Amino acid sequence: MNRQLNPFVYDDPVPPNQLVDREGETEQLLALAEGGHNTRLQAPRRYGKTSLLGKVREEAQKIGMHTVYVDFYRALTLAEVSRRIEEAYLAALAGAPRRAVTAVTRRWRGKLVVTPGGVGAEIEPAKVREQQRLSDLLDLPRRVFERSGMRTLVVFDEFQDLLRIDSDVDGLLRAKIQFHRDEASYIFAGSEPGMLNGLFGDRKRPLFDQARPVALEPLHDEDLIEFIGAHFERSNRDPGEALDSLLDLARGHPQRAMLLAHHLWEQTGRGTTADFESFDRAMATLDRETKEAFGQLWEDLSEKPNQRKVLAALANSGRDPLQPADPRRLRSREGVRRPRRRGPDRPRRGTADRPGVPDRGPAAGAVAAANPALGAFSADCRPIVPADRGRRTESSWASGLCNRSDAARQPRCEAPAAPHQQRPSAVRVRP
Ligand SMILES: Nc1ncnc2c1ncn2[C@@H]1O[C@H](COP(=O)(O)OP(=O)(O)OP(=O)(O)O)[C@@H](O)[C@H]1O
Ligand SMILES: [Mg+2]
Repeated sequence: MNRQLNPFVYDDPVPPNQLVDREGETEQLLALAEGGHNTRLQAPRRYGKTSLLGKVREEAQKIGMHTVYVDFYRALTLAEVSRRIEEAYLAALAGAPRRAVTAVTRRWRGKLVVTPGGVGAEIEPAKVREQQRLSDLLDLPRRVFERSGMRTLVVFDEFQDLLRIDSDVDGLLRAKIQFHRDEASYIFAGSEPGMLNGLFGDRKRPLFDQARPVALEPLHDEDLIEFIGAHFERSNRDPGEALDSLLDLARGHPQRAMLLAHHLWEQTGRGTTADFESFDRAMATLDRETKEAFGQLWEDLSEKPNQRKVLAALANSGRDPLQPADPRRLRSREGVRRPRRRGPDRPRRGTADRPGVPDRGPAAGAVAAANPALGAFSADCRPIVPADRGRRTESSWASGLCNRSDAARQPRCEAPAAPHQQRPSAVRVRP
């Protein structure tokens, strides 16, 4: 049987040759790393951080850097952190630099753990011992440089999880990386901009000003049209009029765009063109897949009515509920597309006063649900509490949900009832 594979990946990081756009970000991160600068890559969940880091690593290797990628996702102990760092170095290196790493890791493996009543070669509390081991591992770029004369690009993904284990670890890190200027460059990536801003932007924290922020923005419609259209075409399909609806809903969110394209492709037979019915079927499948998780989230907020209201208001209004209607948004609804921007002159997608802030979606720098599928879901959730005008919520959840530039500004709750009535279904988003 000649079965075609769905070309749209939406669960794992995508390989470098499958990335839509991101040339500008790759170049920027690479140039900074090559120049010995540290960066922090911040974006909401599922925005393509890990995929982009894969591309940056590939390019860094081409220009003669070692690259080490460490994922701290859900690491729970310092011992686990050290193990992940060890494994990352051993996997990335070969020859003399690898032997230098092995020497360090074996030294630590040889140390006996002190157990109550047991025999220990060294009498050290476990935590101190683990901190010392981590300290040695954080110095590995120096050893690698001694052996190879090559700079190492060290990528710490899900960096916020490291800080959750030990809130003092940023002090240790700073003590190391500040002396690595010739030997290493670091990229710290994470999905919690508030936490990363706090770490690197707070004068009182050791890592203050140690890493330049690079934001990952929504993908441009033009790039998605090219990518999705080409993959449909290659498999003898046409996304047709459904592509417009897909882009309207995805609002440049990379993973949601791929997820929608994946389902639309499934609903489009070989040799046929997708239409609104195909899109509706794709949306129904997506709805079934995501409903349970979003429903759980909504339930979890039952004790936090203000957060529910913010979410519903964001989903329903299509604009920042704190701001008056944005004329640019109205223009875009009338079908005016921004000009395509390409090549080295392509400007950053931030606004002039807020570099790196997306200029698409509800309004530049405005509040918006980062996940459009969640937005669509919550558009269908009737607010169950009366309006609570003027009160502020201090919720970190709400700010984590939103794609916002101004961390200091907390969302105010407004009554979301009216817009809700404008949209009868969460999944029917036809123009
Ligand atoms: N530039 C891109 N081109 C194509 N697809 C992309 C791109 N960026 C992200 N995606 C889509 O998003 C999905 C998630 O990508 P990735 O794992 O890199 O994101 P992430 O930000 O690291 O996610 P997480 O927050 O879970 O760590 C991919 O499977 C892919 O569908
Ligand atoms: Mg990731």
